[in-house]
Parts: sequence; C-alpha cells; structure tokens
Amino acid sequence: MVKDLRYFIEKLRTSGSDDLVEIERQIPRDLYMTLIQEKLAKEGRYPAVLFKNVAGHGWPVATGLFSSYSLLAHALEVDPTEKERVLEEYMRREANQIAPVLFSGGTAPVHEIVMTGEDINLENLPVQQHCAGDSGRYITIGCMICKDPVSGVTNVGTYRHELKGPARMGCMMNPVQHAATIRNRHHSAGRSMEVAVFVGHHPAYHIGAASRGPLEHDELAVTGGLLGEAVELVPCKTVDLMVPAYAEVVIEGRIHQDSFEMDGPFAEYAGYYGAPMKVPVIDVSAITHRKDPIWHDLFPSFREHTQVGVLGREAQLFRRLREIVPTLVGVHLPPSGANFWHCYVSIRKRAQGEGKLAGLAVLGSNYDVKHVVIVDDDIDIHDEGEVLWAIATRVQADKDCSIITNSFGAHLDPSAYGETRSERGPMTTKVIIDTTRPLNRQFPERVRPAKHLWDSVNLRDYLPPGNRGA
Ligand SMILES: Cc1cc2nc3c(=O)[nH]c(=O)nc-3n(C[C@H](O)[C@H](O)[C@H](O)COP(=O)(O)O)c2cc1C
Repeated sequence: MVKDLRYFIEKLRTSGSDDLVEIERQIPRDLYMTLIQEKLAKEGRYPAVLFKNVAGHGWPVATGLFSSYSLLAHALEVDPTEKERVLEEYMRREANQIAPVLFSGGTAPVHEIVMTGEDINLENLPVQQHCAGDSGRYITIGCMICKDPVSGVTNVGTYRHELKGPARMGCMMNPVQHAATIRNRHHSAGRSMEVAVFVGHHPAYHIGAASRGPLEHDELAVTGGLLGEAVELVPCKTVDLMVPAYAEVVIEGRIHQDSFEMDGPFAEYAGYYGAPMKVPVIDVSAITHRKDPIWHDLFPSFREHTQVGVLGREAQLFRRLREIVPTLVGVHLPPSGANFWHCYVSIRKRAQGEGKLAGLAVLGSNYDVKHVVIVDDDIDIHDEGEVLWAIATRVQADKDCSIITNSFGAHLDPSAYGETRSERGPMTTKVIIDTTRPLNRQFPERVRPAKHLWDSVNLRDYLPPGNRGA
C-alpha cells in the first residue's frame, strides 16, 4: 500500500497506542479544533486528532500529526517506546535518499476531482481560524512546490497561506527561505512564479520538506528515503510543475510581481501573536483533490509546529557535535523550547571541561538554541523531569553555568533585544548548563533499582486488570 495520509492514519488506528483520537461529534470549523488540542494537552495528551464531522464541510480534518515524539516514531516506523532510536533511524533514512518517479497508473488519485476557472473556491475547503486573535483563516501545513529557474531544481517548503478570496491566498515567505530566493529569480527575469501547494500526505513529506540543505537539495528525494519508497509525481493541470500523486489536495497558482496582501496578526509557534506584515499573493488557477479527501491542518502556536522540523535539526546538530565530542550519546530539542531554544545533549564524558565544550559546539552550530543543558549518559534527554533533576543535583551555577550575552538569536523570541536592552532586536543571551559529574573526585552513587530485578519484573503482572495501561 502506498504511504499516504490515510495509510498513516490507519497505521495509528491499528497500532494499539493512544496516539490517535477520533472525534465523531460535530465541531465548528473555527477555534474549536485547536481548543480540543489544548484541552487534551492540559491532560498531558498529545495525540493526532481526526475530526470526522466539521460543521459546514463534508471533509474530515486530521490535525496534531506531529504533536509528540511518539508520532514522529510512527512516521519512521520505529517502536514509539524507543524514543532514543528515532533520531538514529531518521539519520539512516535521510542518508539513503530515493529519487522521485513518474506516476504511471492512469488518473492520479489527487486528480480525481479537478476544478478550474469559475469552479475554484477556496472557501469550500475546511480551512480554519486557529486562534481568536488571528487575522483570518490559514492553511498551515501546505507544502509549496516551485522550480528554480537557474538550476531547474524543484523546491519544497512549508509556508502559511491566509485565504484572501475564492481564488486568492497569501504566502508568508521569510526572505532567507529558498522559495523566496527562487521567487526573486523569477521576478527579476520579469516572470511570475508558478507554485503548487499540496495538503495532506504521509508525515514524512513534511519532515522531508523541513530537511536542511543547499538550495539544490531535493526534498522529495529525502522524503523518498524517509518513506523507504519513491515519491510518485504527476504533472499539474495548469502550471508546469509536478506534484505527489497521492496527496489529498493540490492548489495550483502563480505569484505575480506586484501582488501583495496583509498577513497577520498570527498566533506564532512561540505562543505569541506575530505582527501584521505584507506578503506575496498566490492567484489560484486550479484546485484538485481525491474524491473522498481528508484535510490536513496543523495548530501553529502549539508544539506540533516545531516538531515537524525537529529531526532534521537534531540530525544536523548530532553530526556536527560528534566531530567535537566523539562520545556523544544523544541530542534532543524538546517542545518546551518553543522553537529549538532548549537543547539537551548527553555525552559519555572523557575529560574535565568536555561538558562545556559540547555546549559551545551546540551554540556555534545552531543560532536558534538559547539554553543548552549537557548531561551524563545516565540521564534520559527525552524526559524533562530527569534533565531538571540533573540540574537540581549536579549544578552549582557559578561554576557550571556560562552566560554569553549579545549573541544572534531567533527573531520571534519576544524577549530578544537590540543594541540597547530596551530595544527589540535579534540578539539573545545564551546559557550553557553543564550538569556532567566531575571526573577528578568521587560523586555520590545514584540510587537505582537493581538491574536484574528491573529486567525481570513485568509491571503488568502486578497491576489489577483494568489498570494495566496499553
Ligand atoms: C508548519 C510549518 C509552517 C511554516 N510556515 C512558514 C511560513 O509561513 N513562512 C516561512 O518563511 N517559513 C515557514 N516555515 C519554515 C519553512 O517551511 C522551512 O524553513 C523550510 O525548510 C523552507 O524551505 P525552503 O527554504 O526549501 O523553501 C514553516 C515550517 C513549518 C514546519
């Protein structure tokens, strides 16, 4: 079976895990789906959620597909209880890229329904307003495809699109993104840029789109590697681009040189509203979809936003750090860091000062990271309680914390500052917290259950039926 969105949902359904919640009750399109995700989070639950009955729309809406590391594990076919294996598997698959192939089976599923001209109406899609202060309704997890006129290479990236009319939507492109560079190249040659935005596919497509590399890097080949099968592509109906044949929906169109709209305020990933800004507009020339489509949404000011790209970032850091600290055990960018602003690193320390060295290597490798915590390999970096316990019991701030002021940081960090502290700007203060135990003196032994007992006792054998969990 082809690995698409419905394949993934079925996998979750039959996994025996709590990672999918299916909601039959009718729900209003705006504000409620995100509210349900917040309510689940308050109970410590971060499942994918399938809303089967959205008022006014016949399409089910899948959301929260990246809300936990377990869901990333499912996407890479790793046992979700083995969190430490997820990054290893990601790096293995990412290194084995598989080039896309042409779909050869007649009408592609994504072309079962084709709408052009007067039939185009973005309003018919179950695109929601996520948060009360948002300026409107946004497509938040569309993958935008465009072609670089210089190299001929296809670029894929996730961009947000605010609905601006039946056949018009915004496209917020940070100027550093590849798609923005490509747009500039088309526009300086006096041409519009053709685009195709696909919505709804296996999560590997989004993880692949967030992978990091040079402009020529083929995100769809990375996706193929992550899936373990080639992405099948089909030509678009109104633009000269290829799109995944098993996507749920594709929106085709053009970005003209002189067409802009306001975007925002928008509830951003760090949990604060971003200010309005002027963005380019896509004039839509076709909407195509499967005959029984599933809409895919992502709650942007929620942990799932940054989780989409977390493995690509962790892999990049892991590779760089291992050159400096060969006994590196793991790297994790937890969701509490809002946008990769916390980084936990575990090492098998070989020399005094190696913890600090690892911290410096992290800060030198990724400008987003603000707070690095280095731990010994007995600490589970996927368990924030353990990391905080290491800080509580192994750190003396004057000796183990290093503070670096006035360093470049993330512009969406609301506490970032400029040349003066009262000015807003791109600078942040970085901290290294080295919790690794000293090598040159005795440190008390950690209390642990005896290994032979831990390995031989099955908790389920001691719990009453009905209280045995998954
Ligand atoms: C859910 C999600 C939404 C995103 N939205 C935007 C956006 O609206 N604008 C933007 O510039 N980057 C956005 N990004 C970041 C880009 O998708 C990401 O940097 C990507 O690698 C850019 O691809 P490109 O440089 O190959 O075009 C988003 C990322 C995710 C995961």
